[in-house]
Amino acid sequence: MPHTDMILVIGANGQIGSELLAALRNEYGIDKVIASDIRTPGKELNDSGPFELLDVLDKSALERIIRRYRITTIYHLAAMLSAIAENKPLSGWHLNMGGLLNVLQSSVDLGVSRVFWPSSIAAFGLHSPRQNTDQWVVMDPNTVYGISKLAGEGWCNYYFEKKNLDVRSLRFPGLISYKTLPGGGTTDYAIDIFYHALKSKHYTCFLRADTRLPMMYMPDAIRGTLELMQTPAGKINIRTSYNFSAINFTPEEIASSIKKVIPGFSIDYKPDFRQAIAESWPESMNDTQARADWNWHSEYDLDAMVKDMLQHIER
Ligand code: SER
Repeated sequence: MPHTDMILVIGANGQIGSELLAALRNEYGIDKVIASDIRTPGKELNDSGPFELLDVLDKSALERIIRRYRITTIYHLAAMLSAIAENKPLSGWHLNMGGLLNVLQSSVDLGVSRVFWPSSIAAFGLHSPRQNTDQWVVMDPNTVYGISKLAGEGWCNYYFEKKNLDVRSLRFPGLISYKTLPGGGTTDYAIDIFYHALKSKHYTCFLRADTRLPMMYMPDAIRGTLELMQTPAGKINIRTSYNFSAINFTPEEIASSIKKVIPGFSIDYKPDFRQAIAESWPESMNDTQARADWNWHSEYDLDAMVKDMLQHIER
Protein backbone atom coordinates (compact mmCIF):
# COMPACT_ATOMS: atom_id res chain seq x y z
CA MET A 1 0.00 0.00 0.00
CA PRO A 2 1.56 3.38 -0.93
CA HIS A 3 1.92 5.52 2.20
CA THR A 4 -0.03 8.38 0.69
CA ASP A 5 -3.04 6.12 1.34
CA MET A 6 -5.74 7.34 3.73
CA ILE A 7 -7.49 4.51 5.52
CA LEU A 8 -10.97 4.39 7.09
CA VAL A 9 -11.85 1.64 9.58
CA ILE A 10 -15.64 1.20 10.00
CA GLY A 11 -16.57 -0.64 13.20
CA ALA A 12 -13.35 0.36 14.94
CA ASN A 13 -14.73 -0.31 18.45
CA GLY A 14 -15.49 -3.94 17.68
CA GLN A 15 -13.62 -7.19 18.26
CA ILE A 16 -11.67 -7.13 14.97
CA GLY A 17 -11.77 -3.35 14.49
CA SER A 18 -10.05 -2.38 17.73
CA GLU A 19 -7.06 -4.65 17.06
CA LEU A 20 -6.86 -3.98 13.33
CA LEU A 21 -6.95 -0.22 13.99
CA ALA A 22 -3.94 -0.45 16.31
CA ALA A 23 -2.03 -2.59 13.81
CA LEU A 24 -2.81 -0.24 10.89
CA ARG A 25 -1.79 2.85 12.87
CA ASN A 26 1.40 1.11 13.88
CA GLU A 27 2.17 0.25 10.25
CA TYR A 28 1.04 3.39 8.39
CA GLY A 29 0.97 6.19 11.01
CA ILE A 30 -1.73 7.50 13.37
CA ASP A 31 -2.97 10.29 11.12
CA LYS A 32 -3.31 8.04 8.09
CA VAL A 33 -5.91 5.82 9.76
CA ILE A 34 -9.34 7.23 10.65
CA ALA A 35 -11.41 5.22 13.14
CA SER A 36 -15.21 5.22 12.97
CA ASP A 37 -17.99 3.43 14.82
CA ILE A 38 -21.67 3.83 15.66
CA ARG A 39 -20.72 3.91 19.36
CA THR A 40 -18.63 6.55 21.11
CA PRO A 41 -15.18 5.08 21.69
CA GLY A 42 -13.65 4.33 25.07
CA LYS A 43 -10.87 6.60 26.30
CA GLU A 44 -8.05 4.47 24.91
CA LEU A 45 -9.41 4.46 21.35
CA ASN A 46 -10.45 8.12 21.55
CA ASP A 47 -6.94 9.19 22.57
CA SER A 48 -5.27 6.99 19.97
CA GLY A 49 -6.00 9.15 16.88
CA PRO A 50 -8.76 10.60 14.67
CA PHE A 51 -12.27 9.20 15.30
CA GLU A 52 -15.65 9.85 13.63
CA LEU A 53 -19.06 8.69 14.85
CA LEU A 54 -20.65 6.86 11.91
CA ASP A 55 -23.71 4.73 11.26
CA VAL A 56 -22.68 2.96 8.05
CA LEU A 57 -26.35 2.83 6.98
CA ASP A 58 -26.20 6.66 6.71
CA LYS A 59 -24.69 6.91 3.22
CA SER A 60 -24.32 10.70 3.19
CA ALA A 61 -22.49 10.64 6.52
CA LEU A 62 -20.18 7.93 5.16
CA GLU A 63 -19.52 10.02 2.04
CA ARG A 64 -18.82 13.16 4.08
CA ILE A 65 -16.08 11.27 5.93
CA ILE A 66 -14.62 9.77 2.72
CA ARG A 67 -14.44 13.29 1.20
CA ARG A 68 -13.17 15.07 4.30
CA TYR A 69 -10.19 12.73 4.74
CA ARG A 70 -9.74 11.82 1.04
CA ILE A 71 -10.06 8.15 1.96
CA THR A 72 -8.46 5.67 -0.46
CA THR A 73 -8.82 2.37 1.47
CA ILE A 74 -11.74 1.16 3.63
CA TYR A 75 -11.84 -1.71 6.13
CA HIS A 76 -15.56 -2.30 6.64
CA LEU A 77 -16.07 -4.39 9.79
CA ALA A 78 -19.45 -3.23 11.15
CA ALA A 79 -21.87 -6.18 11.24
CA MET A 80 -24.32 -8.15 13.34
CA LEU A 81 -22.94 -11.59 14.30
CA SER A 82 -24.69 -14.95 13.88
CA ALA A 83 -26.53 -15.50 17.18
CA ILE A 84 -27.81 -11.91 17.48
CA ALA A 85 -28.89 -11.80 13.83
CA GLU A 86 -30.96 -14.98 14.35
CA ASN A 87 -32.92 -13.08 16.99
CA LYS A 88 -33.31 -9.97 14.81
CA PRO A 89 -33.29 -11.34 11.26
CA LEU A 90 -34.46 -8.27 9.36
CA SER A 91 -32.22 -5.79 11.18
CA GLY A 92 -29.33 -8.23 10.76
CA TRP A 93 -29.90 -8.39 7.02
CA HIS A 94 -30.41 -4.62 6.80
CA LEU A 95 -27.16 -3.81 8.60
CA ASN A 96 -24.99 -6.50 7.05
CA MET A 97 -26.15 -5.95 3.45
CA GLY A 98 -27.02 -2.26 3.51
CA GLY A 99 -23.71 -1.37 5.15
CA LEU A 100 -21.66 -3.31 2.61
CA LEU A 101 -23.57 -1.89 -0.39
CA ASN A 102 -23.10 1.66 0.92
CA VAL A 103 -19.36 1.07 1.27
CA LEU A 104 -19.00 -0.51 -2.18
CA GLN A 105 -21.05 2.08 -4.06
CA SER A 106 -19.60 5.10 -2.21
CA SER A 107 -16.12 3.75 -2.89
CA VAL A 108 -16.81 3.62 -6.63
CA ASP A 109 -18.45 7.06 -6.64
CA LEU A 110 -15.75 8.81 -4.61
CA GLY A 111 -12.57 7.15 -5.86
CA VAL A 112 -11.77 4.84 -2.93
CA SER A 113 -9.60 2.25 -4.62
CA ARG A 114 -9.40 -0.64 -2.15
CA VAL A 115 -11.90 -2.26 0.25
CA PHE A 116 -11.54 -5.03 2.84
CA TRP A 117 -14.66 -6.84 4.06
CA PRO A 118 -14.80 -9.96 6.26
CA SER A 119 -16.83 -12.95 5.21
CA SER A 120 -17.12 -16.01 7.47
CA ILE A 121 -17.28 -19.78 7.78
CA ALA A 122 -21.00 -19.03 8.21
CA ALA A 123 -21.28 -18.57 4.43
CA PHE A 124 -21.19 -22.38 4.17
CA GLY A 125 -24.27 -24.45 4.97
CA LEU A 126 -25.88 -27.80 5.64
CA HIS A 127 -24.89 -29.31 2.27
CA SER A 128 -21.31 -28.01 2.26
CA PRO A 129 -18.69 -30.67 3.06
CA ARG A 130 -17.75 -30.18 6.71
CA GLN A 131 -14.18 -31.50 6.82
CA ASN A 132 -11.35 -29.65 5.13
CA THR A 133 -13.99 -27.62 3.33
CA ASP A 134 -12.74 -26.48 -0.05
CA GLN A 135 -12.82 -22.96 -1.51
CA TRP A 136 -15.36 -23.95 -4.18
CA VAL A 137 -18.20 -26.12 -2.82
CA VAL A 138 -21.98 -25.99 -2.49
CA MET A 139 -22.88 -23.12 -0.17
CA ASP A 140 -26.38 -23.04 1.29
CA PRO A 141 -26.26 -21.07 4.57
CA ASN A 142 -29.44 -21.17 6.64
CA THR A 143 -28.73 -18.34 9.10
CA VAL A 144 -29.38 -14.66 8.35
CA TYR A 145 -25.74 -13.93 9.09
CA GLY A 146 -24.58 -16.66 6.71
CA ILE A 147 -26.98 -15.61 3.95
CA SER A 148 -25.72 -12.03 4.26
CA LYS A 149 -22.09 -13.21 4.08
CA LEU A 150 -22.68 -15.34 0.97
CA ALA A 151 -24.62 -12.55 -0.76
CA GLY A 152 -21.93 -10.07 0.32
CA GLU A 153 -19.24 -12.22 -1.29
CA GLY A 154 -21.21 -12.09 -4.53
CA TRP A 155 -21.44 -8.30 -4.33
CA CYS A 156 -17.70 -7.96 -3.62
CA ASN A 157 -16.93 -10.02 -6.72
CA TYR A 158 -19.47 -8.01 -8.74
CA TYR A 159 -17.88 -4.67 -7.79
CA PHE A 160 -14.46 -6.06 -8.64
CA GLU A 161 -15.53 -7.39 -12.05
CA LYS A 162 -17.95 -4.69 -13.14
CA LYS A 163 -16.69 -1.57 -11.39
CA ASN A 164 -12.99 -2.31 -11.15
CA LEU A 165 -12.97 -1.87 -7.34
CA ASP A 166 -10.10 -3.70 -5.64
CA VAL A 167 -12.19 -5.58 -3.04
CA ARG A 168 -10.53 -8.24 -0.90
CA SER A 169 -12.08 -10.57 1.64
CA LEU A 170 -11.40 -13.46 4.03
CA ARG A 171 -13.76 -16.13 5.35
CA PHE A 172 -12.88 -15.73 9.02
CA PRO A 173 -13.21 -18.69 11.37
CA GLY A 174 -14.18 -18.04 15.01
CA LEU A 175 -11.80 -15.34 16.24
CA ILE A 176 -10.33 -15.57 19.72
CA SER A 177 -9.07 -12.43 21.42
CA TYR A 178 -8.85 -10.73 24.81
CA LYS A 179 -8.76 -6.98 24.05
CA THR A 180 -12.40 -6.44 23.13
CA LEU A 181 -15.26 -8.86 23.76
CA PRO A 182 -17.13 -10.12 20.70
CA GLY A 183 -20.87 -9.55 20.56
CA GLY A 184 -23.24 -12.41 19.94
CA GLY A 185 -21.39 -14.98 17.84
CA THR A 186 -21.72 -18.77 17.91
CA THR A 187 -17.97 -19.20 18.33
CA ASP A 188 -17.89 -16.84 21.36
CA TYR A 189 -17.89 -19.74 23.84
CA ALA A 190 -14.19 -20.10 23.03
CA ILE A 191 -13.64 -16.62 24.54
CA ASP A 192 -16.15 -16.77 27.45
CA ILE A 193 -14.52 -19.96 28.65
CA PHE A 194 -11.30 -18.14 29.59
CA TYR A 195 -13.05 -15.56 31.80
CA HIS A 196 -14.98 -18.30 33.63
CA ALA A 197 -11.88 -20.46 33.98
CA LEU A 198 -10.03 -17.64 35.73
CA LYS A 199 -12.97 -16.45 37.84
CA SER A 200 -14.71 -19.61 39.00
CA LYS A 201 -12.78 -22.52 37.45
CA HIS A 202 -16.00 -23.72 35.85
CA TYR A 203 -17.77 -23.09 32.54
CA THR A 204 -21.16 -24.15 31.21
CA CYS A 205 -20.84 -24.34 27.45
CA PHE A 206 -23.73 -23.55 25.08
CA LEU A 207 -22.37 -26.04 22.50
CA ARG A 208 -22.00 -29.82 22.85
CA ALA A 209 -18.64 -31.27 23.93
CA ASP A 210 -17.80 -32.63 20.47
CA THR A 211 -18.77 -29.62 18.33
CA ARG A 212 -15.73 -28.96 16.17
CA LEU A 213 -15.32 -25.52 14.58
CA PRO A 214 -12.53 -23.69 12.74
CA MET A 215 -10.92 -21.03 14.96
CA MET A 216 -8.06 -18.53 14.85
CA TYR A 217 -6.16 -16.45 17.40
CA MET A 218 -6.51 -12.72 16.73
CA PRO A 219 -2.78 -11.99 16.15
CA ASP A 220 -2.88 -14.46 13.23
CA ALA A 221 -6.10 -12.92 11.90
CA ILE A 222 -4.70 -9.37 12.00
CA ARG A 223 -1.41 -10.35 10.38
CA GLY A 224 -3.26 -12.30 7.67
CA THR A 225 -5.52 -9.33 6.94
CA LEU A 226 -2.56 -6.96 6.57
CA GLU A 227 -0.72 -9.47 4.39
CA LEU A 228 -3.71 -9.93 2.10
CA MET A 229 -4.10 -6.16 1.73
CA GLN A 230 -0.38 -5.68 0.98
CA THR A 231 -0.34 -8.31 -1.78
CA PRO A 232 -0.06 -6.93 -5.34
CA ALA A 233 -3.51 -6.93 -6.97
CA GLY A 234 -2.41 -9.28 -9.77
CA LYS A 235 -1.83 -12.10 -7.29
CA ILE A 236 -5.31 -11.97 -5.79
CA ASN A 237 -7.19 -14.71 -7.63
CA ILE A 238 -10.23 -14.89 -5.34
CA ARG A 239 -12.53 -11.88 -5.36
CA THR A 240 -15.45 -13.42 -3.51
CA SER A 241 -13.63 -14.36 -0.28
CA TYR A 242 -10.64 -16.56 0.59
CA ASN A 243 -10.92 -19.62 2.83
CA PHE A 244 -8.69 -18.63 5.75
CA SER A 245 -7.72 -21.23 8.29
CA ALA A 246 -5.61 -21.82 11.38
CA ILE A 247 -6.77 -24.29 14.05
CA ASN A 248 -9.93 -26.23 14.83
CA PHE A 249 -11.09 -27.74 18.10
CA THR A 250 -14.10 -28.85 20.16
CA PRO A 251 -15.22 -27.42 23.52
CA GLU A 252 -13.84 -30.60 25.13
CA GLU A 253 -10.43 -30.05 23.54
CA ILE A 254 -10.10 -26.39 24.51
CA ALA A 255 -11.18 -27.34 28.06
CA SER A 256 -8.37 -29.96 28.21
CA SER A 257 -5.88 -27.39 27.02
CA ILE A 258 -7.04 -24.95 29.74
CA LYS A 259 -6.75 -27.74 32.36
CA LYS A 260 -3.04 -28.00 31.56
CA VAL A 261 -2.66 -24.46 32.96
CA ILE A 262 -5.55 -24.46 35.51
CA PRO A 263 -5.74 -28.07 36.79
CA GLY A 264 -8.99 -27.58 38.78
CA PHE A 265 -10.95 -26.31 35.77
CA SER A 266 -14.19 -28.12 34.91
CA ILE A 267 -16.77 -27.81 32.14
CA ASP A 268 -20.34 -28.98 31.55
CA TYR A 269 -22.62 -28.60 28.55
CA LYS A 270 -26.08 -27.06 28.03
CA PRO A 271 -26.51 -26.73 24.27
CA ASP A 272 -28.98 -24.05 23.14
CA PHE A 273 -30.12 -22.72 19.72
CA ARG A 274 -26.50 -22.00 18.78
CA GLN A 275 -25.82 -25.75 18.52
CA ALA A 276 -27.82 -25.93 15.27
CA ILE A 277 -25.95 -22.90 13.90
CA ALA A 278 -22.58 -24.51 14.68
CA GLU A 279 -23.65 -27.78 13.06
CA SER A 280 -24.40 -25.99 9.80
CA TRP A 281 -20.80 -24.74 9.57
CA PRO A 282 -17.56 -26.50 8.53
CA GLU A 283 -15.42 -28.27 11.13
CA SER A 284 -12.20 -27.44 9.31
CA MET A 285 -11.23 -25.45 6.23
CA ASN A 286 -8.92 -25.91 3.28
CA ASP A 287 -7.06 -22.64 2.65
CA THR A 288 -4.69 -23.85 -0.08
CA GLN A 289 -5.59 -20.90 -2.31
CA ALA A 290 -4.61 -18.30 0.33
CA ARG A 291 -1.34 -20.17 0.90
CA ALA A 292 -0.62 -20.26 -2.84
CA ASP A 293 -1.64 -16.70 -3.75
CA TRP A 294 -0.22 -14.68 -0.85
CA ASN A 295 1.74 -17.18 1.19
CA TRP A 296 -0.66 -17.43 4.15
CA HIS A 297 0.35 -19.52 7.16
CA SER A 298 -0.89 -19.38 10.76
CA GLU A 299 1.40 -19.38 13.79
CA TYR A 300 -0.61 -20.21 16.92
CA ASP A 301 -1.68 -23.76 17.77
CA LEU A 302 -4.32 -24.49 20.43
CA ASP A 303 -1.98 -24.74 23.44
CA ALA A 304 0.02 -21.62 22.48
CA MET A 305 -3.18 -19.63 22.04
CA VAL A 306 -4.65 -20.86 25.36
CA LYS A 307 -1.48 -19.98 27.27
CA ASP A 308 -1.31 -16.51 25.76
CA MET A 309 -5.04 -15.82 26.36
CA LEU A 310 -4.84 -16.87 30.04
CA GLN A 311 -1.74 -14.75 30.65
CA HIS A 312 -3.28 -11.63 29.12
CA ILE A 313 -6.72 -11.97 30.72
CA GLU A 314 -5.20 -12.60 34.14
CA ARG A 315 -3.30 -9.31 33.84
N1 SER B 1 -17.60 -15.74 14.81
C1 SER B 1 -18.78 -15.58 14.00
C2 SER B 1 -20.00 -15.96 14.72
O1 SER B 1 -19.93 -16.85 15.53
C3 SER B 1 -18.67 -16.41 12.76
O2 SER B 1 -18.11 -15.65 11.74
O3 SER B 1 -21.02 -15.41 14.47
